[in-house]
Amino acid sequence: MVIFMGIAVREKRKREEVLFRVREEKKKEKKAQYIDRSKLLGRALSLIKEGIVIMDPYGRIVFTNRFARELLGIDENDTGKFFYQVIKNFDVVSLINEAFNESYRVWNDKKINDRYVQVIFGSDLDEKVLLLIDQTPMRKYENLKKNFIANASHELKTPLAALKISLETLEDVCRRNERAIKYIKKAQERIEYMEQLIEDLITLSLLESTNLTLKPKKLKLLPIINSITSHLMEIAEKRGITFSVNVDENTEVCADRKLLHAALKNLIDNAVKYNRDGGRVEITYIKHQNEDEVRVCDTGVGIPKSHIPFIFERFYRVEKSRSRKMGGTGLGLSIVKLAVEKLGGKVRVESEEGKGSCFSIILPRRCGIISTDD
Ligand SMILES: Nc1ncnc2c1ncn2[C@@H]1O[C@H](COP(=O)(O)OP(=O)(O)O)[C@@H](O)[C@H]1O
Ligand SMILES: [Mg+2]
Repeated sequence: MVIFMGIAVREKRKREEVLFRVREEKKKEKKAQYIDRSKLLGRALSLIKEGIVIMDPYGRIVFTNRFARELLGIDENDTGKFFYQVIKNFDVVSLINEAFNESYRVWNDKKINDRYVQVIFGSDLDEKVLLLIDQTPMRKYENLKKNFIANASHELKTPLAALKISLETLEDVCRRNERAIKYIKKAQERIEYMEQLIEDLITLSLLESTNLTLKPKKLKLLPIINSITSHLMEIAEKRGITFSVNVDENTEVCADRKLLHAALKNLIDNAVKYNRDGGRVEITYIKHQNEDEVRVCDTGVGIPKSHIPFIFERFYRVEKSRSRKMGGTGLGLSIVKLAVEKLGGKVRVESEEGKGSCFSIILPRRCGIISTDD
């Protein structure tokens, strides 16, 4: 009986040994397959033009592809070291530090070694990934486009000015011919529209210029508003529209004069243009804890809800004919949005069809240099 039991135990051990060896073989095989697959993946990822850095939850480098290594100055043997020990670009190290405990963050147009890069940081429990997308070629193309628009606009100014003078002369010559005068006036209106279009295009390309450095400083708000309303007074008076300005003469906001002027001019201009005859334009300053708000309200036609998401797009008009009749180019609100964003602020709109609209410019109160070429 004892002998039989001993044989059974030995048999069992043998079986267990065989099973263990089979399992070990399978593990080795799987590991080899895993290494093969990760090598293949590594090689494939090195071929792509986007940079990839994979880190463990503590920030130690697990994987880098070729583009990321070239861009960030990482050595191929730096695996296992902390990102801040191996990434040579200080800005990128700061960005990772900034977002280290977040799940997702995107920075656009970060300048890394003369290249413009979109930096994306993603993180979960097991790893942190940094994705670097080179936007330099796209940016070059966009700059080319912007320069072309700016140059073409400046070129158009000269023949238009000549045309304007010719029409003035013609107006003098045809003083007694009513029909001719009617057509000359129409042509003059078209020229004015084209001049405004050119001005707006130049302003837009200036605002889009990548190396625009702004120096926001404390500016008195009231003189800027007064200079805009006095320019619009003639048109407003003709239609019985009144201005009501609720801004203290000492009120200051932090902005770049040209940009703030452009934004407010377009908002106040719209408040007059899209008002009803005999209506009112109210301009109010509201002080918030860390922000300044300038609110432009009118008693005009209002904007249907379905159109509101689109009114800041270029050339978008709710009612084309009304805008054209008023000499609108459809670029005003895109200028407002870009200018305010360049100042680090935001634009808000509330509107009720048939009752009126309120547009608000909200600016941060801190004053410092804002460079768009970061
Ligand atoms: N205060 C307002 N009241 C009603 N509609 C407005 C107002 N401001 C803008 N809009 C609408 O938004 C459109 C876009 O405005 P904007 O970009 O300034 O172009 P436009 O040159 O036509 O004024 C306008 O055509 C108009 O339909
Ligand atoms: Mg406008």
